[in-house]
Amino acid sequence: MADMIKDFKTMQQELKLDGTELCRLAQDFRQTAEDALAGRDSSLSALHTYLGLPTGQETGTFMALDFGGTNVRASRITLKGADGFTIETKVAKPLRSDDYDYTTSSTTAEALFDFIARIVKEAAGGNKAYKLGFTFSFAVNQTSAKDASLIAWSKEIDVPGVAGKSINGLLKEALVRNGMDRIEPVALLNDTTATLLSSVYQHNPAQIGIVCGTGFNMCYYEPALKMIVNLEAAGFTGGPRTECDRRVDEESQQPGDHCFEKMIGGRYLNELFRVILMDYLDCDDIPRFTTRCMNELFSGEKTVRDVLGFDVTPEQKEGLCALGQDVFTRAAQMIGAASFGILGHLAGEEELKEQAIAIEGSLVEKIAGVPSVIEGAVCRSCMGLSEGTPIHIVPNSHGASIGAAIAAALCV
Ligand code: BGC
Repeated sequence: MADMIKDFKTMQQELKLDGTELCRLAQDFRQTAEDALAGRDSSLSALHTYLGLPTGQETGTFMALDFGGTNVRASRITLKGADGFTIETKVAKPLRSDDYDYTTSSTTAEALFDFIARIVKEAAGGNKAYKLGFTFSFAVNQTSAKDASLIAWSKEIDVPGVAGKSINGLLKEALVRNGMDRIEPVALLNDTTATLLSSVYQHNPAQIGIVCGTGFNMCYYEPALKMIVNLEAAGFTGGPRTECDRRVDEESQQPGDHCFEKMIGGRYLNELFRVILMDYLDCDDIPRFTTRCMNELFSGEKTVRDVLGFDVTPEQKEGLCALGQDVFTRAAQMIGAASFGILGHLAGEEELKEQAIAIEGSLVEKIAGVPSVIEGAVCRSCMGLSEGTPIHIVPNSHGASIGAAIAAALCV
């Protein structure tokens, strides 16, 4: 037992980030982003989105499509300027169920895009003349806001025949194949950009957009380029990695890629916790469970037996819940430190001003206390940040869909 307690303490220690480490992470993130912007070698990107910030006056009815995690969502949205927006219809389907799977190498680009087109068809209510904005949440190469080509899949999606292709081109072909030739894809954007657009449209003057759902990423408005820049923050290689982080990476579909995401994204926090538990409980294997189950275990909605398939002692349960909470806390702190890095870049020599950070994703929406841990980590990342400088985390549900409609409005 004494050994277990000692190991437990070491494990907890490995997951803790103190002020100095947060500060280092923030500086490193800022430098890496500035390298990417200047075209130097960098683990971050500075992908041009060709989209600026909306005025909040954009109006019209658009189709919005959101694909980037476990679900595909299509909606018809009316933007009403100062009066906000209305989501008129919404259809969401998982990419994977007991009957089908559109995520693996055994499916095809045509099958995947036909599946997406049928969801659009249901949300549009037939072949009607709508402009469509597509929130496609993977790394893309873009030369205008209208379309982009996939650089590489992430989040364990591995469908062949999509990398290098025009995404709105593939969507348009599928829409035509499914009798929907009157729907016109006019904009393609990342979910972080959509989150930022949606937040600004709703009068929250943010400069940074973050998604922490299945995956993780950040974008920000770069005044020098007069456009939003997608950092593909998942790829950041800084930050303290533990042995367990390395194991999660090695066992993933794309080892060596998206390492920062594997410490923050919901697709991986469950895996990280599972690997940590194998050490903590000294067992060779534990059946897989989702990040949602992990959270339900901590909130008391599920028992240890429900999630792990076996019982543990009360002492072990206390320890494993503490380790799981540490996994969530570390993810939130890393987001805070990275945000501070970008806020520092934007402020330059000036003092930081009060501002919002737009965030969407299950980590902030479902896990208790995460927004305040992020805000706290922003402040702890900089010893010089005056006590009163308020950084507000603005959770932004439906940002990916609202942002797609706003992008469509900006592109017509
Ligand atoms: C993708 C990003 C995306 C993020 C959040 C990452 O895996 O590369 O483009 O924004 O997930 O969905």
